[in-house]
Amino acid sequence: MAHLVVEPRSFYFGTPVVLISSLNEDGSPNLAPMSSAWWMRRSCMLGLSTRAATARNLMRERECVLNLPSWELGDNVDRLGGTTGLNPVPESKVELGYRYEPDKFGTAQLTTAPSDLVKPPRAAECPVQLEAVVENVHPFGDPDADIVSIEVRVVRAHIDEAILVPDQHHYIDRDRWRPIIFSFGEFFNLTA
Ligand SMILES: Cc1cc2nc3c(=O)[nH]c(=O)nc-3n(C[C@H](O)[C@H](O)[C@H](O)COP(=O)(O)O)c2cc1C
Repeated sequence: MAHLVVEPRSFYFGTPVVLISSLNEDGSPNLAPMSSAWWMRRSCMLGLSTRAATARNLMRERECVLNLPSWELGDNVDRLGGTTGLNPVPESKVELGYRYEPDKFGTAQLTTAPSDLVKPPRAAECPVQLEAVVENVHPFGDPDADIVSIEVRVVRAHIDEAILVPDQHHYIDRDRWRPIIFSFGEFFNLTA
């Protein structure tokens, strides 16, 4: 091996795609794709830019739903690309071609389902829907960066029966379902 010292553009090795639903200031639902997420026990850490509606909604409302799509929903996730629930669109996002979209569920062609314990709705078509509350907001990375890591605690899990281990409903069966993985800008299907 010959290792070079370089400045990689990104370290997006691979993390699951999550569609976060949250409530906008006017009470309408927002839905946004993200992938900087990891879990331990009942908690999840979310890496989010504050130049997006989702981070602001989570810091204000303290609630969200983490919806994990199946591979078949890749096109629905793609439909949300280049959209934001922020109006006006932040300058840095205008430069990237983002547009304001108030109807994220309609744009994604996904359906809202009421949650049990939090106000933001679930995305009905996603087999994993985790209702969660915000526990802590941490600064992340460069002090000037617009990124926060938001720690949430799952308060209710809705899992499609079809992906559970038969007769052992406390486990998701990895042979029946795996999340979409976003790695270096592309979606990967881990399903066997
Ligand atoms: C596959 C995918 C993964 C993304 N991962 C993240 C992420 O981990 N953190 C983040 O802040 N934005 C991420 N984004 C960008 C957000 O979706 C984008 O900022 C969007 O404007 C958020 O919508 P909102 O402004 O309505 O919250 C990702 C986008 C896509 C398509």
